Amino acid sequence: MKEKLAELKLQCTERIVQFSSLKDLEQLRLDMLGKKGELTQLLKSLGSVAPEERPIVGQLVNSVREEIEEMLENAKATIRIKERNARLSIEKIDVTKPGKAAVVGVKHPMTTVLDDLKAIFIGMGYSIAEGPEIETPYYNFEALNIPATHPARSEQDTFYFDNGNSLRTSTSPMQVHIMEKGELPIRAICPGRVFRRDEVDATHAPVFHQLEGIVVDKDVTMGDLKGTLELFAREFLGSDTKVRFRPHYFPFTEPSAEMDVSCFACGGVGCRVCKYEGFIELLGCGMIHPRVLQMSGIDPNVYSGFAFGMGLERATMQKFGISDLRLLYENDVRFLKQF
Ligand code: DAH
Repeated sequence: MKEKLAELKLQCTERIVQFSSLKDLEQLRLDMLGKKGELTQLLKSLGSVAPEERPIVGQLVNSVREEIEEMLENAKATIRIKERNARLSIEKIDVTKPGKAAVVGVKHPMTTVLDDLKAIFIGMGYSIAEGPEIETPYYNFEALNIPATHPARSEQDTFYFDNGNSLRTSTSPMQVHIMEKGELPIRAICPGRVFRRDEVDATHAPVFHQLEGIVVDKDVTMGDLKGTLELFAREFLGSDTKVRFRPHYFPFTEPSAEMDVSCFACGGVGCRVCKYEGFIELLGCGMIHPRVLQMSGIDPNVYSGFAFGMGLERATMQKFGISDLRLLYENDVRFLKQF
């Protein structure tokens, strides 16, 4: 039995040095120490050993088992280190190779413009409000002093639902929502989507964006309106921007005006883009009609205010010199990357 043990130990030592994989080692472990392994078998035959020798032989078997286990463990560790070194030498990184540039997107020009506008008006103390895209006739028309006979109400312009509600045709209903809250004074801008039954062309789309502005306080005058919008235009389009106000009509403001800014293409000299006017219309504005204030619960004898509404597509086109609105929706990356 002793010889057998010594022989097993030798066998192990010899086999181990030839091995280079963990799999081989595992096989050796099974061959020796597994259920049917040679050492295990030997242990089973302990019964045939003389009783007085059993403890000694038993101890011997155990110590050989421990030795073999240790050998296996050591061999395992060596193989692991070898495998790791081999892997590391393959996985070496060549830091001199050229890198792959990450593809970074750009802000859509409309987003850039909206961010600019928000920053300008926040700087003047305005807050930002948003509201529903579906409105009742009261908010979309009546509360804005738009009579039932007004062309804006016609089905040609407005998307109606069967129940008489409609998609908002401008952001002006937001004026009403804000005034109804009764928190005075008011200084707010409201950007958002608006909807009109227009055919798509270079300057029209059935869905577009507006930014509404509203100011209500005591002693607000047309001078405040002009000063605010002039300052805004210069901040937004550059300090050499010229503005002009033309009298206009809107049902919800009195008096009303449109504000033009000097043409982005020619700087005011006159060209094809501005139809040789030197100016391009940027927004509608006016002093909030006393009736509109009253309907929303504000006393027009105490308070006054002004409002303005601007098309964001138009503002973006003006700012970046884009001549076709459709380019803003096609999202051709080659186009968008320029801004
Ligand atoms: N709601 C008008 C439009 O969609 C724009 C507008 C004009 C808004 C005058 C105003 C304003 O607040 O005072 O064409």
